[in-house]
Amino acid sequence: MKSSYLINLTLWSIINTMLFLSKVNSQTFYPPDFPIISPQLMEAYIALQAWKQVITSDPNQFTANWQGPHVCNYTGVYCAPAPYDPFILTVAGIDLNHANIAGFLPEELGLLKDLALFHINSNRFFGVIPDSFVHLKFLFELDISNNRFSGPFPSVVFFLHSLKYLDVRFNEFDGKIPPQLFELKLDALFINNNRFHSALPANLGNSPVSVFVVANNDIRGCIPPSLANMAETLDEIILSNMALTGCLRQDIGLLRGLTVLDVSFNNLAGPLPESIGAMRNLEQLNVAHNKFSGQVPSSICSLPKLENFTYSFNYFSGEPLVCLRLPGNDDRRNCIPNRPFQRTPEECSNFYVQPISCGSIQCLIS
Ligand SMILES: *[C@@H]1O[C@H](CO)[C@@H](O)[C@H](O)[C@H]1NC(C)=O
Ligand SMILES: *[C@@H]1O[C@H](CO)[C@@H](O)[C@H](O)[C@H]1NC(C)=O
Repeated sequence: MKSSYLINLTLWSIINTMLFLSKVNSQTFYPPDFPIISPQLMEAYIALQAWKQVITSDPNQFTANWQGPHVCNYTGVYCAPAPYDPFILTVAGIDLNHANIAGFLPEELGLLKDLALFHINSNRFFGVIPDSFVHLKFLFELDISNNRFSGPFPSVVFFLHSLKYLDVRFNEFDGKIPPQLFELKLDALFINNNRFHSALPANLGNSPVSVFVVANNDIRGCIPPSLANMAETLDEIILSNMALTGCLRQDIGLLRGLTVLDVSFNNLAGPLPESIGAMRNLEQLNVAHNKFSGQVPSSICSLPKLENFTYSFNYFSGEPLVCLRLPGNDDRRNCIPNRPFQRTPEECSNFYVQPISCGSIQCLIS
């Protein structure tokens, strides 16, 4: 059993060496004593050399030692036993966070088939995520945040069934947020600070994530009602600084595990649901800079773990005493009688001339 495996491996190595020799660019330094390590490490060598060739700036010299066959010694490259065979050493991680490298991601990176972590945050990579990433079937964490990637949402991630952590924030992606994203079995999803537009997909609530951040995009329309389906898993949701409209539904209170809820800087209207007072774990609640009105529910201000509840810049007309006692209470620019720093009586009476009827709001969801 063992020996036939070794023979196979040797055969594999020979085939791969031939393949390898035919693929290696003549400019690549190729030492005559190049050891046959494993097909995996040879493919990694091809991938990493191809990547190095398209790096146009590496001011901190992260890739300076990306030379020769010992890829496991390259800065930012981490090797580990293959998930399918503990006797094969393979490239399991790339970590070039904060390297400030400029360049793009070549198709050859798809040769790093055993990769579990790919972290390149805070660089100047541009272009798109290559389709060859579809081969990275063990990829668990993909962090390409704070780069200059552009184009539509990188749909290749829909084929990565091991993916748990997806972070594409602070790039220049645009177009729609695709519904397939919410069918992935992710644990954390960050898509904030891009140029996504249109509405949130109706199937948002199918996502099993515990953390979801989609702030600072040009997202219009309502919060999809399916949000309430995330009760079992959702811990933090940040939907701030977009163009969301409509009201918060009572069933948002089903999200009992939430610790952070931020819908600030939108155009949300109507009353603040009393049911938020059922989120017993809530620590941070930010509804500031919307068009909420009516009374601030005392159920919310009585939440046992609430550390910071911000509701300034709305049209609330009253707040219970328990809210005033919250540390750092911020009720500025509302329509609350006998409180300092409120909106003018004109602003408030103009707003309350036409009360918002949540039932009649047309909800745009994609
Ligand atoms: C790789 O790094 C290890 C540990 O630093 C060192 O012992 C080894 O000689 C290096 N191998 C090569 C070929 O550079
Ligand atoms: C509460 O949160 C708001 C909004 O995030 C922030 O500006 C403010 O500084 C926080 N206040 C406290 C007391 O932490």
